[in-house]
Amino acid sequence: MKIGEFNFSNSIFLSPMAGVGDFAFRALCRECGADLSYTEMISAKGLLHGSEKTIKMLYTLNEESPCAVQLFGKEPQVFYEAIRKHELKKFNIIDLNFGCPAPKIVKNGEGSALLGNIKLMQEIVQTCKKATKKPIGVKIRLGENNINYDIAKALEEAGADYITVHGRTRLQGYSGVVDYEAISKICSLVKIPVVGNGDIISSQTLEKMWQTGVDGVSLARGALGKPWIFAELKKIKCNISPFDFVCRHVFMLRQIFKDDFLCKYLRKHFLWYLKGIYAPDLKLQIANMENIDDVLRNMKKVFENKLNI
Ligand SMILES: Cc1cc2nc3c(=O)[nH]c(=O)nc-3n(C[C@H](O)[C@H](O)[C@H](O)COP(=O)(O)O)c2cc1C
Repeated sequence: MKIGEFNFSNSIFLSPMAGVGDFAFRALCRECGADLSYTEMISAKGLLHGSEKTIKMLYTLNEESPCAVQLFGKEPQVFYEAIRKHELKKFNIIDLNFGCPAPKIVKNGEGSALLGNIKLMQEIVQTCKKATKKPIGVKIRLGENNINYDIAKALEEAGADYITVHGRTRLQGYSGVVDYEAISKICSLVKIPVVGNGDIISSQTLEKMWQTGVDGVSLARGALGKPWIFAELKKIKCNISPFDFVCRHVFMLRQIFKDDFLCKYLRKHFLWYLKGIYAPDLKLQIANMENIDDVLRNMKKVFENKLNI
């Protein structure tokens, strides 16, 4: 799959994930074989105001390149100005979020709310194309009445370089069956590359997605607590132990963030790394984590000695 100057031989990407897709996690996924990673969705408006929180969300390591930044918003001009900010210089691809179903985003007319306004979506894409020579991707969901077919065509006409399709509708959220047929139909309707997304967690589900005719695939939840899933899917040997992944994730984050923030932030990640392992006391300690090193010491015991603490 080709996106702008980037030729991806495998095209297995890490999907954007708000609140969890930090730079360290993305770097680990890339090291394990993810061909492209995305920042979590960034408010175009927030970027213009230069909020400290937004700037921290944009942190990325050189090793992550190529990396896509995902923006959300609704005003074409705001997208234009955001894309031209120097903070986005280091990103190779700009991805537009037209699929987020979160109520606070939709209420504001952003994310998947835009799926109801083809003209505005086109205007946003055209304006973004004027702002940069970098490839512009668009992430959408399926529509309720096949209207997404018109949307895919319209986005192509507006100049989108590729489309990512999460094979669910806004109402489905993150559960319910992925509609492989609809993804397949979109592939046959547009000439630009299509990335298929939804429920890829194994070689079997990956194969199901490839069979739709997509040019690339992206996965989100399957990688949580398991960055090495990319190595598994690509049948690459990975010699790093799960505990080493945890330590490296923490080490990288500590270069940027303070422990008082990380004590809260890392809880979810630690519990994902321990998914399927019986360690009730440790999980309770993580849920109330106040000292990262204390938790790491106990995690080491659980991972390496398989102690049930
Ligand atoms: C915690 C979480 C945060 C997400 N944040 C974003 C986001 O910022 N932008 C986006 O386009 N999709 C976001 N998504 C959706 C995923 O990128 C993906 O489309 C969806 O989870 C389906 O893929 P999966 O079945 O592989 O998880 C998020 C999903 C999760 C679980």
